Amino acid sequence: MCGIVGIVGNEPVAEQIVEALRRLEYRGYDSAGVATLENGQLDRRRAEGKLRNLEVKLSQAPLSGVIGIGHTRWATHGKPNETNAHPHATDRLAVVHNGIIENFRELKAFLETKGMRFETETDTEVVAQLVTYEMRQGRPPIEAVAVTLPRLRGAFALGFIFSGEDDLMIGARHGAPLAIGYGDGETYLGSDALALAPLTDEIAYLEDGDWAILRHKSVDIHDENGQLVHRPRHKILSGSFIADKGNYRHFMAKEIHEQPEVVGRTLAHYVNCTAGRVELPIDLPFDFKDLKRISISACGTAYLAGLISKYWFERLARIPVEIDVASEFRYREAPMEPGELALFVSQSGETADTLASLRYASAEGQHVLSVVNVPTSTMARESDVIASTLAGVEVGVASTKAFTCQLTVLLALAIAAGRARGTLSAEDEKTIVDALIGVPGLMSEAIKREHQIEILAREVSKAKDVLYLGRGTSYPLALEGALKLKEISYIHAEGYAAGELKHGPIALIDEAMPVIVIAPHDSVFEKTVSNMQEVAARGGRIILITDEKGALEAGLDTMATIVMPMAHPIVAPIVHAVPIQLLAYHTAVFMGKDVDQPRNLAKSVTVE
Ligand code: M6R
Repeated sequence: MCGIVGIVGNEPVAEQIVEALRRLEYRGYDSAGVATLENGQLDRRRAEGKLRNLEVKLSQAPLSGVIGIGHTRWATHGKPNETNAHPHATDRLAVVHNGIIENFRELKAFLETKGMRFETETDTEVVAQLVTYEMRQGRPPIEAVAVTLPRLRGAFALGFIFSGEDDLMIGARHGAPLAIGYGDGETYLGSDALALAPLTDEIAYLEDGDWAILRHKSVDIHDENGQLVHRPRHKILSGSFIADKGNYRHFMAKEIHEQPEVVGRTLAHYVNCTAGRVELPIDLPFDFKDLKRISISACGTAYLAGLISKYWFERLARIPVEIDVASEFRYREAPMEPGELALFVSQSGETADTLASLRYASAEGQHVLSVVNVPTSTMARESDVIASTLAGVEVGVASTKAFTCQLTVLLALAIAAGRARGTLSAEDEKTIVDALIGVPGLMSEAIKREHQIEILAREVSKAKDVLYLGRGTSYPLALEGALKLKEISYIHAEGYAAGELKHGPIALIDEAMPVIVIAPHDSVFEKTVSNMQEVAARGGRIILITDEKGALEAGLDTMATIVMPMAHPIVAPIVHAVPIQLLAYHTAVFMGKDVDQPRNLAKSVTVE
């Protein structure tokens, strides 16, 4: 994740931009940079490492432009050196970028055939060159950006300034957040309210697909179809920045929508996008190839992330995995051979049962690895090593972005294990890593099904009971769908392995109980379709969550079919988490429930 700030000002802006970047440093500090325009001339300063290095450069060679953009970087593509630092510039423009441009390789190849030259290893430079190419074809800056944006795939936010244009900045949001600030004869662009707080108290959040034209006295916001749109302005109060709901009614909604960005950030931390391989940012005090088994313990949604990872570790690394809910494991007196790996998963890092299990495993001589979101938590402190999920603060009690970030980290670990054990070839690793890099973009696509899901939620809200079914990694996801639905809507929901249906739960099928089936087109798709036939034959009403191919081949009547974009089967559970979260959310909202603070629950369960 990177931080973006822009100021269309009336006095030299470099100092203010650096101040704003300081508040964005939590988003990355691999490098930083500022570009400004003075009498139409572009100039920039960039520095590797922390912001103070940039400040030194600026003190030696100040910038005096009154319109400028700044960036603090968390490297995804290319080393964290000065060459790769933002803003990236051509003779026509400078651009800052947060997120990943997935199709940068094919765009770069296209531009090279047109004679464009590249200086960096970044995906961002492709954006700079593509807009420049369009301008060289005679398009004015706004039009050049407008034709470029639809060609970019991935989850990203962008900010541009242009040579010779002293009253123009363009911001664009596609899966990564971006806010507009309104001042007195000045306008601003920022990754979040926190960045803009000292500059203005009036901001508007861009929605996905929006792009904005900022001038000193006006801001025009267009949606992804190019239509002029109005986005509500908010007064921001000091002290409210950390727990800011943005344009959303609930934190849960915001956290669902943040997922393309936060998952992108997490995977950028664990994979080398350019090389297409996992590079763990931690030193493991053990070697995966020496392990005979992994024991996983966790609670609730974190347990279900662990259960999905069991499929990954066993399939990719051929290593047996035992998994328990921590409240059982801690008292089970499980025999553990010293020197094996005990893996714990927790958002808070404070869950009492998981912590007790961790202490048990530690006393049994296990290597303790925790996948946690709060790096200062007790579990983090008591583990031999932690793999941070980097999801940021999760306020909604129903875990959403922490879950998909846990999955991202666990998949990276399973891939690393497969490589270390010689069970995953470099080619297969690249295929899966490339699929993983595509996940933020697919999650953005999945979020576009929200309106359909919102309408469907009205039907679901009438049910007293709901059954979720799935096979393979869709089975733990079915359990998660049921958990999400019950915890915030209070509708009784059960998750089952689809193949278990005929061993009992099929007796429950009737017209009153929706049966939600998660079935991407994978190796067990046809088996799941057979189970759906069994439900349909008994008058059950099916809601099918599948992908484009699955929707074509399912061949049966459903109450509704939610069609996800195609994803590689290994990464599909991360993408398919989105519709089950949205369905739970909208059902609960429609029923008037307290979505962020559901009854009887707490965010961090520090008692048994
Ligand atoms: O902080 P943790 O991840 O250890 O919490 C575990 C569970 O309490 C948590 O996932 C809970 O199930 C959520 N409310 C689910 O949405």
